[in-house]
Amino acid sequence: MKYDFDGVIDRSNSYSIKYEPSWRGKPDDILPLWVADMDFAAPGCVQEALIRRAQHGIFGYSEPDAAYFDVMRKWFEERFSWTTERDWLTITPGVVNALYLAVRALTKQNDGIVIQQPVYYPFEASIRKTGRQLLVNELVYKDGYYSIDFQDFEEKIKQAKMFILCNPHNPVGRVWNRDELTRMGEIALSHGVTVIADEIHEDFVFSGHKHLVFAALNPDFANITVTCTSPSKTFNFAGLLCANIFISNKDMRDKFKEEYVGCGLTSRA
Ligand SMILES: Cc1ncc(COP(=O)(O)O)c(C=O)c1O
Repeated sequence: MKYDFDGVIDRSNSYSIKYEPSWRGKPDDILPLWVADMDFAAPGCVQEALIRRAQHGIFGYSEPDAAYFDVMRKWFEERFSWTTERDWLTITPGVVNALYLAVRALTKQNDGIVIQQPVYYPFEASIRKTGRQLLVNELVYKDGYYSIDFQDFEEKIKQAKMFILCNPHNPVGRVWNRDELTRMGEIALSHGVTVIADEIHEDFVFSGHKHLVFAALNPDFANITVTCTSPSKTFNFAGLLCANIFISNKDMRDKFKEEYVGCGLTSRA
């Protein structure tokens, strides 16, 4: 598909938080790069589908049908050789929302949760604001490259109930490889730690690298993991508020859904 990455689209008066008034007061040559919200238009097929839907004119309560899931299954199978099942899926208004739901559903007050800083700031917020204990496995920066201190990782995991993995990692840009993911998974497994795998940036990988779905590496990893995905970064429509959360472990999924219902995200409890 041919796509215009060069056209400049005026986003003023579009209620964009990226260009909110505090930014407009800054000199014109400052680019607002604080949020992963691109200045490219969503693909034509996305725009056309939205227009078709809008022209229907009625916006009552709705839910996705089998076709929605089939599109996703195809996407994950073709790109990542990951076979998903419809039962595993919960749709939430966002990955950050799912992060908070999973933290609340699968840990208790004061439980330790490991993150690998520097990392997307809502990870820390989801731990602090829910009264959990922050455990940081600092990434190691050397010669322009970030890597994991596995000894420290295991020390922190021993004190934890949950690990929030960011893969590909925002902001360090690493696409964790098979060895790194396997080591992290085995350490988490051996200490009974649940994993939230935030894979929202899965489609942004430079050639020579391959995104590996953590839960697809090993059925034992799948059994302890909440995988967070969303088309919102790939196609630049974060404002449409839609994330696809996969949990194959039924017990974990039931707890997650209970929290989802408990937050009033559906009236169909
Ligand atoms: C790693 C990561 N997770 C989640 C999000 C936000 O996801 P959502 O808008 O679905 O809450 C971002 C946005 O930049 C991100 O970088």
